[in-house]
Amino acid sequence: MASLSPALRNRLVAAQSGTFACAVHSLSRRRGLATVRAPATIFSALDTFPDRHIGPNSREAAYMLSELGYGSIDAFIHDTVPQQVKIAASEMTDDVIRPLSELEFNRRAKALGRDNKQFKSYIGMGYHNAVVPPVILRNVMENPAWYTQYTPYQAEIAQGRLESLVNFQTMVMSMTAMDIANASLLDEATAAAEGMVMAHITSGRKKVFFIDDGVSPQTVAVLRTRAKGFGIELRVGDATSAFDNEAETCGVLVQYPDVDGRIKDFTDLASSAHRSDALVVVATDLLALAMLKPPGEWGADIVLGNSARFGVPSGYGGPHAAFFACTEKLKRKMPGRLIGRSRDASGRPAYRLALQTREQHIRREKATSNICTSQALLANMAAMYAVYHGPEGIKRIANKVHGLTQLLKVIVGGYGFKTVNGTFFDTLTLDVTGAVKAAEAVHEAAAKAGVNFRHIDNEHVGVTIDESVGPIDFLRIANVFSSAAGSSILTREDLLPSPSASSIPLSLSRASAFLPHPVFNKHHSETEMLRYIHHLESKDLSLAHSMTPLGSCTMKLNSTSSMIPLTWPEFSNVHPFAPIDQVKGYLQVIKDLEGDLCKITGYYACSLQPNSGAAGEYAGLSVIRAYHESRGQGYRDVCLIPVSAHGTNPASAMMAGMKVVPVKNMQDGSVDLEDLAAKAEKHRNSLAAFMITYPSTFGVFEEGVRDACHIIHKNGGQVYLDGANLNAQVGLTSPAVCGGDVCHLNLHKTFAIPHGGGGPGVGPICVAEHLAPFLPSHPLLKVGGEKAIDAVAAAPFGSASILLISWAYVKMLGGQGLTDSSKMALLNANYMAKRLSGYYSVRFKNKNGRVAHELLIDFVEFDKAAGLKVVDFAKRLQDFGFHPPTVSWPIPTCMLIEPTESESLDEIDRFCEAMIKIRQEAEDVITGKQPKNNNMLKNAPHTVSDIVGEWDRPYSREDAVYPLSWLREKKFWPTVSRVDDAYGDLNLVCDCPSVAETAHNFEP
Ligand SMILES: Cc1ncc(COP(=O)(O)O)c(C=O)c1O
Repeated sequence: MASLSPALRNRLVAAQSGTFACAVHSLSRRRGLATVRAPATIFSALDTFPDRHIGPNSREAAYMLSELGYGSIDAFIHDTVPQQVKIAASEMTDDVIRPLSELEFNRRAKALGRDNKQFKSYIGMGYHNAVVPPVILRNVMENPAWYTQYTPYQAEIAQGRLESLVNFQTMVMSMTAMDIANASLLDEATAAAEGMVMAHITSGRKKVFFIDDGVSPQTVAVLRTRAKGFGIELRVGDATSAFDNEAETCGVLVQYPDVDGRIKDFTDLASSAHRSDALVVVATDLLALAMLKPPGEWGADIVLGNSARFGVPSGYGGPHAAFFACTEKLKRKMPGRLIGRSRDASGRPAYRLALQTREQHIRREKATSNICTSQALLANMAAMYAVYHGPEGIKRIANKVHGLTQLLKVIVGGYGFKTVNGTFFDTLTLDVTGAVKAAEAVHEAAAKAGVNFRHIDNEHVGVTIDESVGPIDFLRIANVFSSAAGSSILTREDLLPSPSASSIPLSLSRASAFLPHPVFNKHHSETEMLRYIHHLESKDLSLAHSMTPLGSCTMKLNSTSSMIPLTWPEFSNVHPFAPIDQVKGYLQVIKDLEGDLCKITGYYACSLQPNSGAAGEYAGLSVIRAYHESRGQGYRDVCLIPVSAHGTNPASAMMAGMKVVPVKNMQDGSVDLEDLAAKAEKHRNSLAAFMITYPSTFGVFEEGVRDACHIIHKNGGQVYLDGANLNAQVGLTSPAVCGGDVCHLNLHKTFAIPHGGGGPGVGPICVAEHLAPFLPSHPLLKVGGEKAIDAVAAAPFGSASILLISWAYVKMLGGQGLTDSSKMALLNANYMAKRLSGYYSVRFKNKNGRVAHELLIDFVEFDKAAGLKVVDFAKRLQDFGFHPPTVSWPIPTCMLIEPTESESLDEIDRFCEAMIKIRQEAEDVITGKQPKNNNMLKNAPHTVSDIVGEWDRPYSREDAVYPLSWLREKKFWPTVSRVDDAYGDLNLVCDCPSVAETAHNFEP
């Protein structure tokens, strides 16, 4: 039956269902799958989430099991998950995590939302009340066609988001006046850390990095953590003296405007830095740059910051897209993803990820950054904001913000509050001593009015104005000061027009134009904007179209029910440094999620601070280092890593100041335990850690994982378990049972945060009890352990708002649903392996012939036989409307395929049919029926333009675009043909076409 079309097979199954369904029904309870169950009572909820989350129903599951030769899911799991690490079924049941129906969850979220007090925050420090244009909110942020996309590795089916990310890069370059910008980093503080490391490395590893005392405290904390791993010595003070007689300094970080609102002139500092061969790194604010002379015009080498002010809600700390720009000279050292223009096989312009995109995979421990997932969705939102408002709109917003700040200064000055900073854009640091006894009087009045200001000290209060401030908000702010000072209440009639003088020094006022590119100057009506958003969206394949079976990436259902609370103001408008008594709802979500993640991993404590899997790796390894130091073994710095590991593992180890020693893999893909033991013993006096991914990146549960952990512990090291593959483990085994000491989880994989086209992500770490004291802290809120390492992210709980999604996922699935999800992920992958195994060689299986939750298929034979590469198969899959699986990783000739539990049997069969059809097409090339260099695989993908023009290919147009009959009904058209990566890297162009170029393109 496996070779029948899905439609026919389903018909057969339906015909059999009389007998088969009875058998299945009796099996279903025994199988323990959370697929359709009869309601226990008339009051039982019918909107139970596991039924919606898990793709195959009981009948389909039973069919897949029978295809694999099993009568029950338990027998199948017995053969798939090693007994040594198996946990008892009772450890993850609905009694352990009680499931909520979708409606119950919604009510619970509403109640917790109400527990967050709806204060408006004017705290500043890098976070503002953003105004999200509704057209962007609904059509990008709340639109699965944007938020479920994967990182645009497959350029031909990702031109929409690539164009939008180029808009982001162009916007950053133009606002900052820098030569090149990347497509986002995790947050401002980690971007500053990347800038510091770039300065350190480009200077030939000079040791000292100077931080101006106007830099935000959270940025300084993250720099402190990062400096440690590189042996960088930090000095904090007045930057103007940084280069007085300092040859050892590799760079200086300044903030412009600074945390207190001051606009300092760093032009002379830049000259002295350059005379000393040091770099000037500038943290800045894009909106302020609409009025300020951009750093690129006064000597900055690196410019970074947070773009959230461009239409991204605060979300109690994130997610937001940090930006990072640098000079031409530094471009090849820039961290993160960079989008560039290239051309496709027909010579048409096309965008794709450029240069260092896969830096960690290629350079591993020699990489200078571990950025993999970044913040693509938020970068797209910020870019769309710039497209929608354009240069004139942005100027208007900046003028309003500055004007209101001026007005506030005059008004509060009248009550005796003196503005300490003579220059400012949007922030006043007020000396309160002329009006009240202590700053607390102002904060008390603010609390009564439902607003928050920045707590600086007893004598000073900070106020930062933003785009959202209307007349009522303004009066509320002003009246906090009038009531604190005992003056009469202001009314609207009392408001003067904004003073005309500016508090931006003339020498630092912006004279240059920005955003002249056509894209920022034509989509200003909502109709135009809506169409632009949908025009880009229509070029991109996402989970809204078909399965994205990317191995190691776990692209599963991101349910609407779990996404809904995210944009409620009760959660989205919360400042990360809001007083703790205002965020009870958030704190409960965080506590629940930390607790449930500990139950799932078997660990003692959790930190939700890291903003990606790689950031989690770095945090976990830094915790291990701190643990060794606490025992007087700070000299332990060797990290053993299997050669099969994800590239972020060695890059993170290097960033945490460790030396990477590779460990071999066996022929069957497992870690070579002999080599591991030999290396562990050889380095036993300096062994810090071992990193292992489980199940391995080769898609198998290794039998020897506990032995590997034992070897490491015996030699004084700690085990870091990379939990990116946790989707195979939940309820079946756990990192703690496997023997690890710390793991990170990718909430944007196993726990259903959508991938956003390359972020956001969350990479929490869970640790055993002995490591809990070292979990990361934060300078503005007490989090972490009692011997905590410094912060690893700008906000205490990282990207807090999207924790709601994983919280929803866990709470709605409950213990049984979580376990069943893992079981079904394993079943789907094994069924797929079975269907494909007559056609392709599945590289690794366990001794029972089972893969884990993903399978690795090797294409080397096709290369040998006919020069067909794995990438040719991948590109051909695009013609069938599928996102190709992970290509050329972890083995260059392979594809890593991960269907996840959310895909139905029909979808899996459609994918298998496509793969089988491509196999037949490859056979035609191997047997000489089709030429080696001009066939459907080599020419894939095929676009509409390809088939409407002259046709001289040795196959029909129909075979090119409709190789299977269902494609006539359900076709996704790639918009460009095969993109030429090498051309793009040689001719690096990373911004939007200019006016001149656009005009040229339209010349007849
Ligand atoms: C095995 C493994 N480890 C670590 C990571 C890094 O996670 P992130 O992309 O969130 O930084 C990935 C990401 O794909 C992965 O597959």
